[in-house]
Amino acid sequence: SAAHGRRTLKVLLAGPRGFCAGVDRAIRVVEEAIKRFGAPVYVRHEIVHNRTVVEDLEAKGAIFVEELDEVPEDGHVVFSAHGVPKAVPAEAERRNLLYLDATCPLVSKVHREAERHFADGGPESRHILMIGHAGHPEVVGTMGQLPPGTMTLIQDAEEARTVMPADPMRLAFITQTTLSVDDTAEIVDILRARFPHIEGPKREDICYATTNRQEAVKAIAPESDLVIVIGSPNSSNSQRLREVAERTGAKRALLVPKLENLDWSVLEDVETVGITAGASAPEALVQEMVKALSERFNLDIEERIVKEESVTFRLPSPLGP
Ligand code: F3S
Repeated sequence: SAAHGRRTLKVLLAGPRGFCAGVDRAIRVVEEAIKRFGAPVYVRHEIVHNRTVVEDLEAKGAIFVEELDEVPEDGHVVFSAHGVPKAVPAEAERRNLLYLDATCPLVSKVHREAERHFADGGPESRHILMIGHAGHPEVVGTMGQLPPGTMTLIQDAEEARTVMPADPMRLAFITQTTLSVDDTAEIVDILRARFPHIEGPKREDICYATTNRQEAVKAIAPESDLVIVIGSPNSSNSQRLREVAERTGAKRALLVPKLENLDWSVLEDVETVGITAGASAPEALVQEMVKALSERFNLDIEERIVKEESVTFRLPSPLGP
């Protein structure tokens, strides 16, 4: 029989994994908007960085666009969870578009921090070092909260060591929410040592979901011959999970958007496989992967939950309660 001679594969499921409260809310914003206003509802940028989520919403009546000029007059448009530069809602208002903002509240919180440091450009204004990755939509959105020139992007420890701000006494830092906790701690330490007067959050602005998912993958990586991170290549937090897994002891770690992208040969010498999922990856993709593994191996599944999460966010007006 096919089952005869099947070998056993140990599966370690990381918990928490997958959807965070900000992603869950952003998806509900699009679904509610379609219910309330009828299809189509336009969405500027991938609502969250996951193809499966995007295709699912397209099937329900969402149309994804890159820029607002692709949205017709009187259209309803949703801004993605990553946040948008100030110029985007301004443009929507100028064009009389009805917009809904699905920016994660934890990203909006960083936007407000930036505004507080800027202090309207007055005598209390601080130059801001933004720790993050160039070109990521969250960084574009956060840097776009303030006039050009008021923030400098810091991408790594080397840039933290060499940045030369005009006035080290009037300096602040903020961070992207989906960075590596360990890399960011190093960068913040360098900045605090070089600029003792720098203002910023106690540690960084990395969100609870990013922190917990990295902690969870660390708990399974040392025992895993392979860690599979279910997530999209353009998802920052998923990429970080893959790196963290590799750095903390997994023999190998791979980002796999979904089951059909899995190259089965990677499992050849694997006795223990760890599985996690980025904050924008639906749990259904994890279950689909486990089911496919169960058709080829005798599975010994263990879930390791390092933390329980209970964060939820209310929908923005006019969709909220
Ligand atoms: Fe928000 Fe963090 Fe998710 S910033 S969208 S809760 S990954």
